[in-house]
Amino acid sequence: MSAAGRVAVVSGGSRGLGRLLVERLLGDGWKVATFSRKPSEFTEQTAAERPEDFLWAPVDLGDRAGLRAYAAAATRRFGRIDLLVNNAAVLTDQELFLTVPDGRLDALIAQNLAAPIALTQACAKVMSVRRSGQIVNVSSINAIRGYRGVAVYSAAKAGLDGFSRSLARELGPLNIRVNSVIPGFFDSGMTAGVTAENRERIRRRTPLGRLAGIEEIADTVLFVISSGASFITGQTIVVDGGITC
Ligand SMILES: NC(=O)c1ccc[n+]([C@@H]2O[C@H](COP(=O)([O-])OP(=O)(O)OC[C@H]3O[C@@H](n4cnc5c(N)ncnc54)[C@H](OP(=O)(O)O)[C@@H]3O)[C@@H](O)[C@H]2O)c1
Repeated sequence: MSAAGRVAVVSGGSRGLGRLLVERLLGDGWKVATFSRKPSEFTEQTAAERPEDFLWAPVDLGDRAGLRAYAAAATRRFGRIDLLVNNAAVLTDQELFLTVPDGRLDALIAQNLAAPIALTQACAKVMSVRRSGQIVNVSSINAIRGYRGVAVYSAAKAGLDGFSRSLARELGPLNIRVNSVIPGFFDSGMTAGVTAENRERIRRRTPLGRLAGIEEIADTVLFVISSGASFITGQTIVVDGGITC
């Protein structure tokens, strides 16, 4: 679809995959609203250089009212929402399930599942007025394969995939497509703590014999929202070099 005048909301656009998506969408002519807890050099510079096209505000995924207020602010600023990418997520340390404290368990589910669901509801209401839109939920291969130390995060991401499928049925008649993109490992702040040994293990187990470039994950998201994917909805699109095949 032509991006001119279209508006994207991307959660977690200050760095990592979210930042790259913001850059690419702006480059393609979208207006982009994004949030994170803290600004980055990228968000500050882009807000200064592209004030007509770019909105950043501090919002925490754990703040449900803040998420709804942010969707309302983006709509006031740009007049519409055509695309939501639920990109922001939290995974700091791997921890064994038997020792995950109760509060942390709640936070992981709140930030990685309840927050994107609430943000989607707020944005989809805006999309429904025009009977057109797209939602992309950034999931993880942890949703489709078991890995030690990430059980609660995995549950949240698997929940997000189920959410994508059922929502696609509900919103399809409103011409709103909903899909999950499921990345394998890529370099970002989230994976900065992965040891060289573990990176090498992932590389060896990957049929394509290398790790993903972050731009390959962004390419997949951009494909899913493109006219070339106009009949794809309710799907989980895996981009992992084949490690889960
Ligand atoms: N990296 C991987 O190997 C990998 C693999 C599979 C799936 N994924 C998924 O890909 C997506 C992007 O991950 P990434 O690796 O690019 O992550 P990242 O580099 O850690 O960036 C995360 C972004 O989300 C924001 N964020 C984090 N916690 C937040 C909170 N509580 N409230 C609001 N914003 C918050 C961060 O900004 P602040 O910290 O300032 O809030 C940042 O902008 C995530 O959904 C992740 O689960 C990543």
